Formats: sequence, C-alpha cells, structure tokens
Amino acid sequence: MSGPAGILPGEGRGARGRPPAAAPGTGPLAFPAGFLWGAGTSAHQVEGGNRANDWWSFERQRGRIYGDDMSGDACRHWERFDDDFALAAADRHNAHRLSIEWSRIEPEKGRIDGAAIAHYHDVFASLKRHRLLPIVTLHHFTNPQWIAAEGGWENRATIERFLGFVRLCAREFGAEVDWWITVNEPEVLAFRGWSEGIWPPAKRDDSLALEVIAHLLEAHGRAYRVLHEEDRADADGDGRAVVAGFAKHYVRLEPEHGWSPLDVARTYFEHRVFNAAVLGAPRTGRIDLSIPGARAARRDVAELKDAQDFVGINYYTRWKVRALGAEPHVAARGARLNDLGWERWPAGIEHALGDAAAAGKPVLITENGSADAEDAMRREDLVATLALVHRAIVEGVEVRGYLHWSLMDNFEWADGYRGRFGLYAVDFSDPQRTRTARPSARLFAGIAAANAVDPSAR
Ligand code: FCB
Repeated sequence: MSGPAGILPGEGRGARGRPPAAAPGTGPLAFPAGFLWGAGTSAHQVEGGNRANDWWSFERQRGRIYGDDMSGDACRHWERFDDDFALAAADRHNAHRLSIEWSRIEPEKGRIDGAAIAHYHDVFASLKRHRLLPIVTLHHFTNPQWIAAEGGWENRATIERFLGFVRLCAREFGAEVDWWITVNEPEVLAFRGWSEGIWPPAKRDDSLALEVIAHLLEAHGRAYRVLHEEDRADADGDGRAVVAGFAKHYVRLEPEHGWSPLDVARTYFEHRVFNAAVLGAPRTGRIDLSIPGARAARRDVAELKDAQDFVGINYYTRWKVRALGAEPHVAARGARLNDLGWERWPAGIEHALGDAAAAGKPVLITENGSADAEDAMRREDLVATLALVHRAIVEGVEVRGYLHWSLMDNFEWADGYRGRFGLYAVDFSDPQRTRTARPSARLFAGIAAANAVDPSAR
C-alpha cells in the first residue's frame, strides 16, 4: 500500500482546494477555505428509544453486549437535538453528520410514520438555524425488525426495500440536505454480523458475509442513482443538489511477523477484501470479493460504476495480522492503546487518504476519534492526525472536511457504554444525560474557528 505520494493523478489530486503554503514548523497549518469541520453521530447510538430496529431486540439477548448494556434512552438526543447542535455551533463546527433511522420512518413494512418524518424536518431546521451543514447517513448499521425478519442484507430483496426508503428520504428531505452517505461501513457490518458473529444476526459464515457486502455495495450504487434522480433541490445554494458517497472503514493491516509467509498471506487477503475491493467497487462497478475458504461474490453492477461524488473514510487504527492462534488481530507489541485496546496510530490516516484518493474523487473524513474517557490521549491524537491530513492536502489530496467521532459519548454497539468517544462526556447515570465538554471539545473548537491546526497545541 502506498502513502499519498504514490497515488495516480486524478480529480482527487491537484491544485484545487490546496491550503495557502506554509513552511513546515513555522506555526499553524491552515486548511483550505470552506473546509468542513464537525462531528458525527448515528441515530441508534444517540437518539434513544429505537424500539423497532434489530439492535433493540439483539440487546435484549444476554451476553451479546458488554455488561449487558442496552441502548435504552441512549443520549436522549431524540429530545435534546437542538441543545446538542447549539453546542456544536458554539464550538464553531460548520457541519454535522447524523443518520436517519429507517425503523422510525418505516416501523412496519409499508407503513410510513408521519410523526417521524416531521421530527427529522425539525432536526434539519435546527441544523440550519445553527449553520451546520447536514451530512446524512441513510443506513448506519440498524435495520427495521421487519427487514431483519425477511433475512436482512442476506436477502437481495432488501436492496429494493432500502431503495424505497432512500427515495422517500430524497423526496422528503432533499430541499434540506445535499450531502448524503448511503451506507456506513458495509464491510464492518458484514464481518461483524456474519463472520465474527458478534452483531446481529450473529452468524458465522464467511460466504454469507461476502454476499452481504456485495448487496450493500449494490445498494450503494443504486441509492446513488436514486438520490441524483430524486433530489433536485440545492439546499445550500452552491449549485449542487446532491453530493453522495458512502463511508468506508479503512483499517491499516500489517503482518505481525514480516518473516512469516502465513501472516503475510493472510494480511494480503484481508487487505484486499476489506479495504481494496470495497474502495474500488464504486469506481469500477466491479464487485470482486474473495477470501480463501469462502464462496466468492463477483459481479458487475452498472449502477455502481462511477457512483460516488466523494470517498468517505472512517479511520481509527492499525492491526497486526496473525495467521495462527485464536486472535487474528492484535495491537502492535508495545503500542500505545486507547480504552478499547485499539492502537493509537495517527500515521495510518496517510495510508487511508492515499488509497482513498486513488478513486480520483475528493475525500471526506467521515469518522476519526478515540475511546478515551479521561481525555488523556484524544488531543494529542487529534492534532497529530490533522497535521497529517494537512500534509496530504499540501501533497495534492483533495480533502473536503474532517468529522470527528463523536460529538458525544454514545452507545458503542457490542461495547455498550464502555467506549467513550465524545468531545462531550455524557453522564448516563443522570436521567437528563448531562453533557460536559472535554478539553478536546475546546481544542477542536479552536481548530475549527481558526481553520488551522497548530501542531504544538494540546
Ligand atoms: C465505527 C462506526 C461508529 C462507531 C465508531 C467507533 O465503526 O461507524 O458507529 O461505532 O466505529
């Protein structure tokens, strides 16, 4: 894999959007004008009360979630969204990533909930009042229970059902939203749910996992077309009604032992299926997913060819890959770890941006952050990451923005409430779910306000 310097020229590289030149080591690193600064959330993780989706039922099975936590009222963002956006706006964010919960809009097959639609109109009105550009995810891991009962993403018919939901959102919210993320991390959803078996539907079948990724990629390509057909309203007046992509979880994989052909081979196959094939599909239209021992998923999908206006990148960490032993992914020996045991490795953002830029499209960092309840590491990692993002921009990668994960602590899937990713801490023992700014929120606010990062800031 190559860093930014090894990438072919394309739309994603070039003079456009470069920041003013600054000599290295001479002070703040300025970002291009109009750079998007914000934070992300997803509906199920923050809203609370999402009773009609597959996670709600999964959380009720003992032993599935760390500490048997349940999303429950989560952050009560369903009621508190306006206050939350006020926090982000006061911190000088200019964009915010959130998701629309399909199971709220369509709790039963074919039944559209008008109150839920009205709620999201209120949400978008609030974002507008706070001058936060909405970046809207249409599928962030959760499915309505009726979809799960029909076989979820194993079932090809789910693609059509999802497209119905996408069409509805495009028509209903198109005048309020231009930036769309069709699906979040197809490869993570598939491997966690169908290979590792630790997310719903808790199966362990690699062939099914590959088929699920294929369905999600096809859904992305077709959703991309639906959005461009149905959403003709330019919400922010920049001349573009739709800017659509999907969010790819980019993980840096390296063999634990470079001398071990087995570790090297496993790393090669995992990188190919997890990173390269998924990043390549919306450019070439070719789905080509294979791993040893599983049935490959291969097909060409016409709607998937050139089906992205930006490449969304979620980057967190690096894993060392082991061919033998119970645990195939381990942190590097002696690595500095966050609260969830993930290696702190900002340098990986360069690999992520380099590979993403190969698509020839602008890149949006749709997630990056750290589980760090004490806020002991987040500031250092944030500044180090942003300095590398800046360097990639100077070298020609067109990065449009940076969305920190997350605005506030939230329900962290199978890790329950133990992974604290928020710029704002949330007190989950308090019925009001009081938010408290961590020092990182202040640091990030200063960066967003200056549109620049000072590499020595902490
Ligand atoms: C990503 C998910 C997001 C959050 C972060 C920590 O894989 O998209 O919802 O859980 O990890």
